[in-house]
Amino acid sequence: MATVTYVTHDGNEYEATLIEGKSLMQTAVDEAIPGIDGDCGGEAACGTCHVVVDPTWIDTVGRSGEVEEEMLSMHPEREATSRLSCQMVATEAWDGLTVRLPEFQL
Ligand code: FES
Repeated sequence: MATVTYVTHDGNEYEATLIEGKSLMQTAVDEAIPGIDGDCGGEAACGTCHVVVDPTWIDTVGRSGEVEEEMLSMHPEREATSRLSCQMVATEAWDGLTVRLPEFQL
């Protein structure tokens, strides 16, 4: 069973099962993980699903695309490995992935 860990800004860790083909945003919303709202339903239009990928994982999960960049560029807590989790469609190869949640979402 592949898992992902979400770490909130205050250090709490929430582990969830990764479902192949399901976005990290949807997984977080379905598991009621605090800090990810997914207000636009995964259209890369709200920025409420921002996560910071652990740097050791960024080459595996890939960097943000052009549409993501537009939204992330407006985010005050944007970091080098920031992604919109709605655009991160999980694969089993991501087993053990850790993402950090910013203190404030858009
Ligand atoms: Fe809106 Fe990801 S859910 S940008």
